[in-house]
Amino acid sequence: MSEAPGTEYLYVINYPTFERELALLEIRSLFGMHIEKKYFYSDRHIPPSRSVFIKACISILYRAGSLDDLVDLLVQNRVRYEQFKFVRFSVVGGGLGYREWLHSAAALGAVIQGEVDMYTAEHLLGVTCLEGQWVFGVYESCDSSWTAHDLKPHTYSNALSVRTARSLVNIAVGPSVDTSLVDPCCGIGTVVIEAASMGIDVKGYELNWSIADKANKNLIYFGFDRLVTKQDMHEITETFQAAILDLPYGIFTHSTPQKQQALIRSLRHIAVRCVIITFEDMDEIIEDAGFTIIDRATVNKGQFTRIIRLCE
Ligand SMILES: C[S@@+](CC[C@H](N)C(=O)[O-])C[C@H]1O[C@@H](n2cnc3c(N)ncnc32)[C@H](O)[C@@H]1O
Repeated sequence: MSEAPGTEYLYVINYPTFERELALLEIRSLFGMHIEKKYFYSDRHIPPSRSVFIKACISILYRAGSLDDLVDLLVQNRVRYEQFKFVRFSVVGGGLGYREWLHSAAALGAVIQGEVDMYTAEHLLGVTCLEGQWVFGVYESCDSSWTAHDLKPHTYSNALSVRTARSLVNIAVGPSVDTSLVDPCCGIGTVVIEAASMGIDVKGYELNWSIADKANKNLIYFGFDRLVTKQDMHEITETFQAAILDLPYGIFTHSTPQKQQALIRSLRHIAVRCVIITFEDMDEIIEDAGFTIIDRATVNKGQFTRIIRLCE
């Protein structure tokens, strides 16, 4: 039985099979650890809403080897919350079944000083049991307001999905949003919108005037500034801490291997930490441009496979 100081967090994640590699790359980038299970502990606090894969975060207050011991800990420590309620969350590969959860929430709720409030609770609490360890703490859910970004007024056949874009932003910037990010070939602005919604200092560049204009209209529609400049990425002189290059490819837009190589070379001068997305194996070209590929993932969707590389 041990009393947690409240600085450790339990994260619950989930992902569809086709996004597994992307999700695990994102977790490595945000938390600096590789995981296999769909839950993990970390002393880093990342707001769950940043990630499409984090379903819940429990700020751990107490842990114990049994429910009775956990109840005792709450009694001994005179745990008090005005207006609280327990929130149920499921954990793939562990956690509590509904009846067990109901029983645990009732047992803990009975010894917490304060009022249960099912409708306007100020304090959301969580309990679960993983591998014989009972965990109690403050529950933080994911706010999926970013899903509204799926409904952009201007769309584009080349665009990334909002889910992928959000994950790429997390992979590129890592744990802190206090950083600068550029999308030098930003298309309709999918990445720029996700980064802006996380409070990141982000800019986009787009060669095609009409697409750049539509990207800015999308940004304004969601309440952000015009963050996209109509400019060739080869002419960018500013430098950034991170970049996401969704390489123009020949399927929908006109591009050639020479042009793609030139864009990768230019990217090297723009940012330190770069995420490069291609449909083809371009590792040699990326390394020849002076990058070291430090991590990677592939995302298969339909007949397409996107290769995502994190480079420094
Ligand atoms: C794959 S699309 C990007 C799609 C984007 N990630 C989205 O979700 O909307 C690549 C974009 O790069 C633009 N582009 C091509 N060459 C460029 C250059 N030299 N500088 C800036 N943008 C460029 C193309 O016009 C195209 O819109």
